[in-house]
Parts: sequence; C-alpha cells; structure tokens
Amino acid sequence: HRTPDDEMVLPLCINVVLSVVGFGVVLRAIPALSSMFIEAGLFGRDLCKADRTKKVPESMGMVSGTVFLVMMFLFLGVPFGQHFITSSKPFPHAAFSEYLTSLLSICCMLFLGFADDVLNLKWRYKLVLPTLASLPLLMVYYINKGSTTVVVPRLLRAWMGGTLNIGVLYYIYMSMLAVFCTNAINIYAGINGLESGQAVVVGASVAVFNVIELGGFQAKSHFFSLCVIIPFTITSLGLFIHNRYPAKAFVGDTFTYFAGMTFAVVAIIGHFSKTVLLFFIPQIFNFLYSVPQLFHFVPCPRHRLPQYNKKLDKLEPSVVEFRDTSVRWQMMVALRLLNHLKLVHLEEGVGEDGKLCRVNNLTLINLVLVLIGPQHEGSLTTKLLVLQGLSSGLALFIRYPLADLFF
Ligand code: UD1
Ligand code: MG
Repeated sequence: HRTPDDEMVLPLCINVVLSVVGFGVVLRAIPALSSMFIEAGLFGRDLCKADRTKKVPESMGMVSGTVFLVMMFLFLGVPFGQHFITSSKPFPHAAFSEYLTSLLSICCMLFLGFADDVLNLKWRYKLVLPTLASLPLLMVYYINKGSTTVVVPRLLRAWMGGTLNIGVLYYIYMSMLAVFCTNAINIYAGINGLESGQAVVVGASVAVFNVIELGGFQAKSHFFSLCVIIPFTITSLGLFIHNRYPAKAFVGDTFTYFAGMTFAVVAIIGHFSKTVLLFFIPQIFNFLYSVPQLFHFVPCPRHRLPQYNKKLDKLEPSVVEFRDTSVRWQMMVALRLLNHLKLVHLEEGVGEDGKLCRVNNLTLINLVLVLIGPQHEGSLTTKLLVLQGLSSGLALFIRYPLADLFF
C-alpha cells in the first residue's frame, strides 16, 4: 500500500532530474544563442564597466524561461499521467486545471516581458499587464473554491473571531501580488547577477519553506508549488552563471517579469500568498525607499544603477541633481531627516550657482554603497545576495517561532 508521501517522493525526484537537465540546456544554449540575439538587436551596454562599447545579449530570460516551460510540459505526465496507471481514485481535474493555468499565467508574463524588452513599454502598462496575466489563475482559484479567509491575530480574536473571510479583497490582493512581485524584482536591478541571483535565492527559500510544509495539512498545495519552483530555481541558476560578474548575458525584463509571476503563481496555488512576501524583504525595502522617485517627488532618471569609478575600478552611489525649489518642501524636510539618519546622502548648495541639491538615487544598491563605501561590482552583488539569503532566514524566523506568538 502506498502512503501519500510515496506519491510525492517519486514525482519530486523526477522533477529534480528534469530540472538538472534543464540547467544543462540553459548553460549551453545561452552562449550558443548570444550572437543570434545581438543580430536581432537584443543587446544592452554594460553601464558599470570601463568599456561600454561591448554588446551584451539582452532578454536571455527568454532562454531560461523557455527551457523551464518545456520541462514543465514534460513533467506534466508524471503527477497526472500516473493516475491512469496506478490509481483507482478519480482524476484530479481541479489540480490539473490549476497546474495548467499556472503555466498559462507564467507563459503570458514571459511573453509580455519580452514585448517590453522589444518595445520599451510605459510604466502604466507594466502595472496593468501582470494584473491581466493573473486573471486566468484567479478564475481557477475561484472555481476550485480557494479559501479567501485569513487568520485573525490572537489579540483581535475576542472581537473578530478566529478567522475572517475577506472575499473579493483576497482576489484583489492576489492580483496586486503579481504586480508587486514582477516590478519589485525589476527595480532591484542594475548590477551584474543581481536580477537572476535574487530570483535563485528567493526560489530556493520558497522551496525550503514548501519542503517544511510537506508535513503539514496543506501538503498537496505545497507539493505543487515545489514542482514549479524547483525547475524555476535550477534553470535560473543556469542563467545566473552567465549573468554574474562579468556579465556575458543580460536577463532583460523578460526574466524579471517571468520570475516575479512565477513567485506570485506558486504562492497562489500553494496557498501561501501572505508568507511569500516575507521572502521579499530586500525588494519591499527597495520599493519603499524608491517611492519618492517612482512617484516623481524627486526626479527619476532612466537608469538608477550605481556609478562606475574608473580610477578605483569600483562602484559608487549614483546621484540625481535638482533645484531645491523644484521639489516640495515636505520632501526636502524628509530628505534632510533621512540624511540625518544616514539613510540618504544629501548635499545642498552645490552646482555653479550653489542652488542645486544632490542626493543618491533612492535604491537599496546605492544605499548599501553609501553605508559601506565603494565596492567592486562582483563583490557588491555577492554581498546583496548574502543579504537576500539572511533575510530569508529572518523570514523563516518570523513565519515560525514569531508568528506562533501572534497567531
Ligand atoms: C530598472 C530600474 C533602473 C535600472 C535598470 C537596470 C527603476 C525605476 N528602474 O529599469 O533604474 O537602471 O532596471 O536594470 O528602478 N544593465 C547593466 N548592468 C546590469 C543590468 C543591466 O548595465 O547588470 C543595464 C544595461 O544597459 C541593460 C539595461 O540596464 O541593457 C536594462 O535595463 P532595463 O531592464 O530595460 O531597465 P528597467 O527595468 O526599465
Ligand atoms: Mg529591467
């Protein structure tokens, strides 16, 4: 007689084997396809290098994304096909439709990210497209009677009861999750290896969380999440190897959108759409820190990546200059306060007429450079990825010992 555990172990082993094959394919395909991408005009200049004339193939997320999808299609027969052979139970139509729509949503985002790379879409579309791409999945979630209740913190239980059904708000939250995950990864970028590296670290962290939860009462959902996140993480690792310093490939918005959507999708089908945000602590910080520039309270240049210092061969914080009269006084007060707290580097009274302000571009990458001084690009990426790993540790601490106190 087979236990539920046996039913999961074999598919997971096959999943890992397929992922490793995918890893090998990505590793070889990227150099093989590089010149083809450059000829098609899909290349970028490495802005943090002394030599900016070299063309680096861009949108290489297309390669890892395609390999990921192929592996997912091949894997389809494993958890579902075996039903025809070994199981007397009815075919799991609900799970099957969830699995297929997950791939549909991810595939859509890969396609839309690629469109962005080719066409350079405006910001408003970057917000609308992930919402639309998440609709099929939300529909299936609804049909499969996915839960829309949240657990109420202990302190509030006397008034609100143990759980609260937030209904349609839950669906709005889930589609906003897709918008957040895609854009948060996209704006935490600009140095070699960071886009793909953060995706690998977050992916691995989500996988660890899923494995822990395989023993819990939502085991089936976490199993499906694992089946998606393992191939994603391992194929992205193949991309990272070419994207890390010195980059031989750029991932493009194709990858940042595809990666963000994958996290949103596994969180939705795995029923951990709140916990997943814990693995995005650096991205959430980077987003909040970026708000003044994203909403144009402070001017926002096209690129906010750090500044290359040729003499030192190191990166320094990049800055933005503006007239103090062009920014609201409330913003200036906030910037002065943050300067006091050493959270921004603000200089006032600069420029020829002494009427300009200069502040570092408001990204976590620049903040780290403000705090610890100029860094070599490769080691800066490593430090930021270690930070990502440490915050995943913090996330698991918040999720387990700490959350038990409050929930
Ligand atoms: C986002 C950021 C932008 C940042 C850019 C870098 C916001 C609002 N937008 O824009 O500030 O500069 O990502 O990815 O925060 N590049 C490098 N080295 C790298 C990665 C990228 O030089 O390691 C450069 C290349 O020229 C590449 C370009 O960035 O071609 C890609 O930028 P793109 O992804 O199109 O920028 P956005 O996502 O719009
Ligand atoms: Mg981008």
